[in-house]
Amino acid sequence: MAQVVKTKLTKLLGLRVPIVSAAMAYASLSKLAVEVSQAGGFGFFGVAGITNAQLREQLYNARASIPDLGAKPLPIGCGFLGWIMDSKEDEYKQLIDVALENGVQAIWLAFGTDLHRWVQYIRNSKASALPAHKPLIFVQVTSVEEALQAANDWKVDVIVVQGNESGGHGRSSAPSTMVLLSEVLAALPGENAPPILAAGGIANGAQIAAYLTAGASGTVLGTRFLLTPESPFSAVQKAALQAAKSTNTVRTLAFDQARGTNHWPAGIDGRGIRNKIVDEIEAGVDEKTVQEKHRNAVQAGDPNYLVIWSGQGVSLMNEIKPAREIVQELHADIVQTLQKAQQLLG
Ligand SMILES: Cc1cc2nc3c(=O)[nH]c(=O)nc-3n(C[C@H](O)[C@H](O)[C@H](O)COP(=O)(O)O)c2cc1C
Repeated sequence: MAQVVKTKLTKLLGLRVPIVSAAMAYASLSKLAVEVSQAGGFGFFGVAGITNAQLREQLYNARASIPDLGAKPLPIGCGFLGWIMDSKEDEYKQLIDVALENGVQAIWLAFGTDLHRWVQYIRNSKASALPAHKPLIFVQVTSVEEALQAANDWKVDVIVVQGNESGGHGRSSAPSTMVLLSEVLAALPGENAPPILAAGGIANGAQIAAYLTAGASGTVLGTRFLLTPESPFSAVQKAALQAAKSTNTVRTLAFDQARGTNHWPAGIDGRGIRNKIVDEIEAGVDEKTVQEKHRNAVQAGDPNYLVIWSGQGVSLMNEIKPAREIVQELHADIVQTLQKAQQLLG
C-alpha cells in the first residue's frame, strides 16, 4: 500500500490520498463515491433528478456496503447544483435533509447565484442523525472573486478551484486550472485558509503531484471516473471517451441547447466531446431539429448526437477500470512522482 500523502484536506477528512471524485449530476452515484472513499480518497454523489426515497436508498446502501461503520459519519458527500435548488426550493431542502439524516461527511455546492443561503440552510438544519457531526461544506468556484467570497464571507470548509480544462459545466472565461489555482492561492495565503483543491483536466498522478507541490491541498477528478464500471455513462459514451483526444473537447452551450437544459447562470457552459450537435448548432440548424436528433440518439446509442461531457485530460485516459483501482494507481504514481521530484534538488 502506498505511503499516506498528508495535506490539509487529508487531515480534515481522514484520507490516505488527496483525491476527490467530483459531484457529477447523473454521472456519479453513491457506489462510485463509496469505492473512491474506500480506496483512501473521498467520493461525491451528484444528486439530481431523484426522489427523497431514492436518495435515502442510495445512502442506506452506501452505509451498508462499508464494513464496521456503525454510527460514524458516512464517508462520502452529496453534491447539489445551486440553480436547480433555487428553482425547486422545497424539494431540495428535503433532499439536503435526507443527506444530513444519513450522516454524510460533506456537502458540495456549485453553480448558483445565491449559494450563501444554501450554506446557511445546511449549517442551521437540525436534520443530522449525528448531532455532534456537522457536514463539511465544499464549494466549487471558477474565479478568484468567488473563492474570496466562499472563504471569507461564507467560511466554507473546502474550496474547489475549477479551471477551463474541466469536463461538464464550468465558466467559459475561466483560466486554466494551474493559473486559477495559483491566483486563488495568492489571494488566500496562510495556514488559516481552507484547503484549496484543483479541478479540471486531471488524469494522472504526475499532474496531481504537480498541483500538490504548487500548493493545492488536493485534486478533484471528474472525467477520469466516468471510465469506470461504477459510472452510469453508457458503453457508447465510454467508448467515445476512450477514443477522444484533448483537442476533440469543446466548451459550448450547444449540448444544453440539444437537451433543452439551457438555464445555467450567465457565463456557464459545458465541455464535452465535439460531435454533430455542436457542428449543427454552430451552422445555424434549428434548435428543435437538433433536439429531436438528440432524443433519437439517446434511444439508438448514436454518439454523433449524444452529449458526452469530457475534460481535456481525456486524451490520457484509455482504459475502463474500477474506481478503487484508479485511486490506488494514482496514489502510487503521486508518491513516486514526489519522490522523484526530490532528486531535482542538489
Ligand atoms: C459528467 C459530468 C457531470 C458533472 N456534473 C457536475 C455537477 O453536477 N456539479 C458540479 O459542481 N460539477 C459537475 N461537473 C464538474 C466537476 O465537478 C469537475 O469540476 C470536473 O469534472 C473536473 O474536470 P475533469 O472532468 O477534467 O476532471 C461535472 C463534470 C462531468 C464530467
